[in-house]
Formats: sequence, structure tokens, C-alpha cells
Amino acid sequence: MTDTPLWVGTGWKMNKTLAEALDYAGQLKHSLPVDGVNRFVLPPFTVLRDVSAALADTDITVGAQNMHWQDAGAWTGEISGPMLVDCGVRLVEIGHSERRTHFGETDKTVGLKVDAALRHGLTPLICVGETAEQKQAGRTDGVLREQVRSALARVPRNARVLFAYEPVWAIGEHGSPAEPDYADDQHARIKAVATEMTGTAPPVLYGGSVNAGNCVSFVSMQDVDGVFVGRAAWTAAGFADIVARCARARA
Ligand code: PGA
Repeated sequence: MTDTPLWVGTGWKMNKTLAEALDYAGQLKHSLPVDGVNRFVLPPFTVLRDVSAALADTDITVGAQNMHWQDAGAWTGEISGPMLVDCGVRLVEIGHSERRTHFGETDKTVGLKVDAALRHGLTPLICVGETAEQKQAGRTDGVLREQVRSALARVPRNARVLFAYEPVWAIGEHGSPAEPDYADDQHARIKAVATEMTGTAPPVLYGGSVNAGNCVSFVSMQDVDGVFVGRAAWTAAGFADIVARCARARA
């Protein structure tokens, strides 16, 4: 635990129509800034522009859940950095395990996307994490090192990036959260590898079955700089509750 601000954010995954998204944003819009907490939401592409506009006068950062590494061209179904910038977005999630598992995202494409994000002035939120099999086989260290190195392969020194440590076995309804001290060890490793490559230790958020009951145990750890939440923050009230608990823990 340090004095630097905490990051508390949520990825909505493939959820929310425009009406639902605006309802959520409308509830957040009236919440006051929370001392010491950087809040962010990552809606689906279809509502990015609207949510960005709805939260324009707040300190809440709006980001996307993915992007392509090229700026334009024959890439059917893809969304580029300039398109995200055009939607008012400042942050972009890259390499979530669901994208790695279901959509062929690799360490290499993650690296290309991180480079593209920075080129367009977007802060990449880079997701890394080992599978249950890799953990079982004692390969967590090597897997994380390789994921971090590939993600930062093209990144200039002192570039501003964020990491989310999200062990694959901890994510979603079949997941169970990591032990906070286990997460803390992996965060320290991620920071060490990132520091070798860029000269600065990036903030590292923990993600995977975070909820109101366990968020404080994570943000109380030395190397946990925030939480990245799925299901438990898919309502504005759920998100606000986690933000408030984290802020109190840090105060
Ligand atoms: P979860 O999702 O909180 O629903 O486990 C986390 C994530 O995928 O980032």
C-alpha cells in the first residue's frame, strides 16, 4: 500500500444496450470525485461515444475493451486507435484472457496493440495472467515474464502503461479470487520486469472475482495499485460500493 492513487475500474464485457449504459453513466455522473481513486469504465464499442459524452464533465475515465494495431484498412469488424480517439476515449484494455482464449489474441498481437495505443495517446491497460494448468506446472513466473516482455517490446522508456494481473482461473463465474498475498507476489514480479524494460514501475491492478467483500484485502497489499472488476461492478451501485470501500481502505 502506498500514497499513489488507487485505480478502480470495470470492464462491462458484452453487456449493456445504449439505454442501460446511459442509465449507469447517469448514476455515476452525479457521484462526487473520490479522493485518491482514479475511476474508469470500459463499455462496449457501441456505446463508447455516448458514455464518453455523458461522463465528459467528471473525473471518470472512459476506455475501450480492445483495439486493432493498424490505423485503418481492410480489417473487417475491427476498431482502430483513431476511431477510439474520435469517440473521446483515453484508455484501452489490451489482451484480456477472454480475447486470448476465444479470439486468438497472442503475446505478439498484444505488443502490436500496446504500441498502437501509445502512438494515438491512449493509455493501454495490459492484461496478463497464467492459466490454472500453467500455475499447476509451476510456470507462472515464466508466463508472466513473457507476457510483460512481449507487451512492452516496442514501448519507449517511461511510457505510461497500466497492467492488470488477472489469473485466468480467477475470472468469471467459475473462477475464484486469488489469495491477496499470492497476487501481491505476481504484481511485484510484473513491476520488476516492466521496470527493466521501461525504466518505471507501472501501476498493477488485480482482477478476477473482485467484489465488495474482498476488494479491501487486495488494495491493502503493497504492490496492488487498484482493482479491475467485472461482474460485481456491472451496476452503478455495485461499482460505487467497491470504489468507496477501496477509498476508505486507502485513507
Ligand atoms: P470478474 O471479471 O470480476 O467478473 O471475475 C474480471 C475480468 O474479467 O476482468
